[in-house]
Amino acid sequence: MSKKIDLSIDFLGVHCENPFFLSSSPVCHNYEMIAKCFDIGWGGVFYKTVGILGMNECSPRFDIVRKEGTPFVGFKNMEQISEHTWQENAEIIKKLKHDYPTKVMGVSIMGANDEEWALLAREMTKAGADMLELNFSCPQMTSHAMGSDVGMNPELVERYTRVVKQNTHLPVIAKMTPNITHIEDPSKGALRGGADAVSTINTIKSICNIDIENLTGKPVVNGKSSISGYSGAAVKPIALRFIAQLKQDPELANLPVSGIGGIETWQDAVEFLLLGAENLQVTTSVMQYGYRIVEDMKDGLANFMEAHGYTSLRDFIGKALPNVIPCENLDRSFQIIPKIDLDKCVGCGRCAISCFDGGHQAIDFDTKTRKPTITDKCVGCHLCLNVCPVFDCITPGEIKFKKGCEPHDVKRQHCYYA
Ligand SMILES: Cc1cc2nc3c(=O)[nH]c(=O)nc-3n(C[C@H](O)[C@H](O)[C@H](O)COP(=O)(O)O)c2cc1C
Ligand code: SF4
Ligand code: SF4
Repeated sequence: MSKKIDLSIDFLGVHCENPFFLSSSPVCHNYEMIAKCFDIGWGGVFYKTVGILGMNECSPRFDIVRKEGTPFVGFKNMEQISEHTWQENAEIIKKLKHDYPTKVMGVSIMGANDEEWALLAREMTKAGADMLELNFSCPQMTSHAMGSDVGMNPELVERYTRVVKQNTHLPVIAKMTPNITHIEDPSKGALRGGADAVSTINTIKSICNIDIENLTGKPVVNGKSSISGYSGAAVKPIALRFIAQLKQDPELANLPVSGIGGIETWQDAVEFLLLGAENLQVTTSVMQYGYRIVEDMKDGLANFMEAHGYTSLRDFIGKALPNVIPCENLDRSFQIIPKIDLDKCVGCGRCAISCFDGGHQAIDFDTKTRKPTITDKCVGCHLCLNVCPVFDCITPGEIKFKKGCEPHDVKRQHCYYA
């Protein structure tokens, strides 16, 4: 990593040596795990959600979505909050804060009523937390007084946020559920209650697969299964969309956001930052690849900053927001016709199949030479660019302005392979 680049950021007044945090989940639920992640270089954690009592979990509790030999792109879990009592968790947090004073200990909490939220806020503050994250978003709690059922109700979000604020001096982050159309509504509830920030997304309600012999969803728990949370690379598009919605709402634009959902690489991290996230949280990719992924994420982020002349994260946080605009405002005056580099083409025919069966029958494929040619039926949809397996073989080519439209400069997509 470039020595010159400073990845630190002050988030809610708390100094973070870098923006990479473990999100509340089994990747950070005991002393040994968190000590190891701090030693490896994570900036902080949001400790596995602390409740009043420990949970009684089911077994098995995970399922996955695969695609073409990838280990998995989507991950489903049926896990709830911490298996330990708040007293046991408070001891672990105290020891971690003592041993790692410069690392940031965010602690996630979840109560079922005013008294429980107040007690957890007081006790986790006493234990040494640097910030509190309020879990309004677990979609598989066994009580409707907790988790995403609360997070979908702006009045309850406001009420419990206020209770927590009255019982701590720490920054408070409301963790929002994606199981809702307008994430802005409960976020405004959190803001009214005094939240200093929101984090999103928690997992998305899902059924990944059906066990067709046992006639139930997977994972199968003694012949049954449940709707529960989906995470990992597959949910990144939904997380990015919610973050853009939050940052583009005039009432919420200044409310800091911690971004979560499918972050696996430094490019993912840059994307969340460009949409306005000031802090980044990760679970599923750590469950898949381990804590060391943070090393590549930090290196890649530093190299990106150096290449673009940025000296601080704040130089580019939110820079992509003005370019995410309503569909009705997109420039529809032109078509970008792709061009094929026949020297790179391996003759697989995938572009022609996709264009014929899912596009506009605009590629002639010579079955003898196994070479494609784009015809004047092409509408510039770019399905072929997205399916071609060869790097830089099909690229954006000629810009054709539609009848009656004035020619002008057009910015093209930078890369189809990142
Ligand atoms: C197994 C598992 C357990 C989780 N437990 C919690 C939890 O206790 N509290 C919480 O706020 N979020 C919990 N989450 C949600 C994650 O913190 C995170 O919001 C979500 O997984 C999306 O991020 P990712 O795609 O990086 O995993 C859990 C996620 C997983 C996969
Ligand atoms: S851009 Fe669309 S229409 Fe044109 S050749 Fe490719 S797939 Fe076919
Ligand atoms: S998909 Fe790419 S490699 Fe395959 S035939 Fe088309 S241009 Fe050639």
